[in-house]
Amino acid sequence: MTMSGEVSMIGSVILALFLAGYLGQQYLPPPTPKVIGLDLGTTFCSVGVFHPGTGDVEVIADQQGRKSIPSTVSFTASGEVLAGYEAQDLADSNHQKNTVYDAKRFIGKIFEPEVLEEESARYPFEVVNNNGSAEFVISTNSTFTVSPEFIGSRLLLRLKKMAERQLGVTIQKAVISVPAEFDERQRNYTIRAANLAGLEILRVINEPTAAAMAYGLHKVDVFNVLVVDLGGGTLDVSLLNKQGGMFLTRAMAGNNKLGGQDFSQRLLQYAIERVRQEFGVVPVLKEDIHSLRQAVEAAKLNLTLKTSVNIRVPLHLYPAESGGAPQGSVPEPTVFQTEITRDLFEELNKDLFQKILAPIETVLTEGRLDKEEVDEIVLVGGSTRIPRIRRLISEYFGKEPNTSVDPDLAVVTGVAIQAGIMGGSWPLQVSAIEIPNRHLRKTNLN
Ligand SMILES: *[C@@H]1O[C@H](CO)[C@@H](O)[C@H](O)[C@H]1NC(C)=O
Ligand SMILES: *[C@@H]1O[C@H](CO)[C@@H](O)[C@H](O)[C@H]1NC(C)=O
Ligand SMILES: *[C@@H]1O[C@H](CO)[C@@H](O)[C@H](O)[C@H]1NC(C)=O
Ligand SMILES: *[C@@H]1O[C@H](CO)[C@@H](O)[C@H](O)[C@H]1NC(C)=O
Ligand SMILES: *[C@@H]1O[C@H](CO)[C@@H](O)[C@H](O)[C@H]1NC(C)=O
Repeated sequence: MTMSGEVSMIGSVILALFLAGYLGQQYLPPPTPKVIGLDLGTTFCSVGVFHPGTGDVEVIADQQGRKSIPSTVSFTASGEVLAGYEAQDLADSNHQKNTVYDAKRFIGKIFEPEVLEEESARYPFEVVNNNGSAEFVISTNSTFTVSPEFIGSRLLLRLKKMAERQLGVTIQKAVISVPAEFDERQRNYTIRAANLAGLEILRVINEPTAAAMAYGLHKVDVFNVLVVDLGGGTLDVSLLNKQGGMFLTRAMAGNNKLGGQDFSQRLLQYAIERVRQEFGVVPVLKEDIHSLRQAVEAAKLNLTLKTSVNIRVPLHLYPAESGGAPQGSVPEPTVFQTEITRDLFEELNKDLFQKILAPIETVLTEGRLDKEEVDEIVLVGGSTRIPRIRRLISEYFGKEPNTSVDPDLAVVTGVAIQAGIMGGSWPLQVSAIEIPNRHLRKTNLN
């Protein structure tokens, strides 16, 4: 055999192997994802995977079909540690002090003593200062303290188990998202939480970058992406710049005292005022305020699709003659009923909605960009479903924002895509899509 014949035979063998591999890829069942994407949120968390066979992201649901679990962990007297809905359900019956939520606000953070004291005052559970770090005091049969990363680990363990149950394999690797403003220490403690749950973290990515990836913006020709994340209690705006397929955060601003809770609070104040006008007294029982709060919260959600809703709440009102103050036995319920229109909801929150534009203007100024230069606008967080807020943003930019992905699942969707990339799933070949920016600070406009 000649030299060239040998070479060509080797060539054919390689070609045959290649073809076999290619055809095998076509006909074999698609590989099960081995890397999960985690969104450890302040109020809710989710887990997702990228299916290489279909190219789809699956956000994993629990046995009741819910795609997020509350970021709540509860400790029982029998020594059990519950996470998610079980913890939340227990919160009402269990001693409230033993149910911890919002732990993400404390993870990896060093506090000034007076700031930590102020923070603790907002919660029913006890937060203590351990040399600048927060710890939660749990008193069941015994009294002990747990760290924010321990709370995080129990939530991540729960998500890991949901994924394992759904995929039928053991999961050991994950990608996780964190707020863009998290410093290195907060990122390290988030990784520690995952390690405690038995997960190795292959990459930590910023939440706004994940949201942009959920819309496939890492694959298309865009330069400037603005991400607006409006959740229950905070607003975060990030200006991302894409350079050679990588996202760089150019500027961040926000308002950590603005969100869906504030809009509901305005509706609650309105409803209480309507009760006073109609019955001459205001509700005083904790249970009545709670029912009213739930009713206006439901109304707020429904006003996204409807232009008007009616609320009906039975209230136990004390006689007006005695000023409505509690005395004697609890009165028979009186039904309070009122109509809430979308126009009214928008009017009651007009000034709050307007505040959303301030951090948007700040990031544009800090990023030295005109609003016309923003290529895509991505909306994240449940409160961006509010039609007036979408309109405010589209009018400001003179173009429609990207809203097709569920705003509560945009981050986990993007993290799952990054998990697919880290898992080497064809056809996603790039391994990184974020350039860390260590010098950037977030501007707070409260
Ligand atoms: C805690 O106390 C309860 C009753 O007081 C008991 O049933 C339970 O076994 C105790 N749990 C532990 C972990 O000691
Ligand atoms: C408390 O924190 C300081 C500074 O971060 C450190 O130098 C010191 O060793 C810590 N003390 C304890 C008891 O952990
Ligand atoms: C974070 O973790 C890395 C790697 O373990 C370490 O080198 C770095 O010093 C840590 N940084 C902080 C601020 O804890
Ligand atoms: C909101 O919509 C749900 C389902 O459509 C309905 O059950 C509920 O009563 C509505 N609530 C209000 C306050 O309109
Ligand atoms: C949203 O993002 C995609 C990129 O995946 C883009 O093609 C589309 O035009 C964007 N805008 C809207 C309003 O959907």
